[in-house]
Amino acid sequence: MATLGVNIDHIANVRQARKTVEPDPVQFAFLAELGGADSITVHLREDRRHIQDRDVFLLKETIKTKLNLEIAATDEMLEIAKKILPDYVTLVPEKREEVTTEGGLDLKSNLQYLKKAVGNLKDSNIEVSAFIDPLGEQINYSKEIGFDFIELHTGKYAELSGSEQYKELQRIIESTHLANDLGLVVNAGHGLNYNNVKKIASINNMNELNIGHSIVARALAIGLEKSVREMKSLITSN
Ligand code: PXP
Repeated sequence: MATLGVNIDHIANVRQARKTVEPDPVQFAFLAELGGADSITVHLREDRRHIQDRDVFLLKETIKTKLNLEIAATDEMLEIAKKILPDYVTLVPEKREEVTTEGGLDLKSNLQYLKKAVGNLKDSNIEVSAFIDPLGEQINYSKEIGFDFIELHTGKYAELSGSEQYKELQRIIESTHLANDLGLVVNAGHGLNYNNVKKIASINNMNELNIGHSIVARALAIGLEKSVREMKSLITSN
């Protein structure tokens, strides 16, 4: 049975829209754990557009489950990861202009640097995952570089429908089997929601699904009515 990693970047997005102190992703990590999250994922971006360094240090001290720190493979981020010592690090590609992580890592073009980076993190007892597209070539390079895990990018699967979505699902299933045969643990994520998650969750040996946007969107849908009611009550009662 796959476990659930909850990505709380969007909580920080709302806070950073006002550059204030609420909502605090650290508090929401606690609530996500109450709901059954098996791990908490945050992406500390070079541009610090949502999660801040302070959030990651506090999460490391306060969460009861596991901390999955997503970072780009840069010297700055590797140093921070070695200070924080999360349970695992997921290396992701990062572009300044992107709205979200758009594709998987291109492992081939960065082979030597990644080998050093992964070795470096593993020396600090941090397990390391590669966020990649479901392609045999990327899986083979993941093994060669020394990653412990891979996270298969499900963004394409989430965008497609009908027979095209079915084909992409088959690619994800085959990629999972290939990676398992090579001894890699397989996670998946991106674009998963309440409608499309079941087929990915039921893949044999799927370890963990990382889900953010749809869970935070659902939280707003479930919670807004109550929060308006509370405000209305404050205004109208005296
Ligand atoms: N996995 C990775 C590597 C990501 O970068 C993201 C998005 O931050 C997710 C999973 C979660 O994607 P979503 O917010 O679409 O659920």
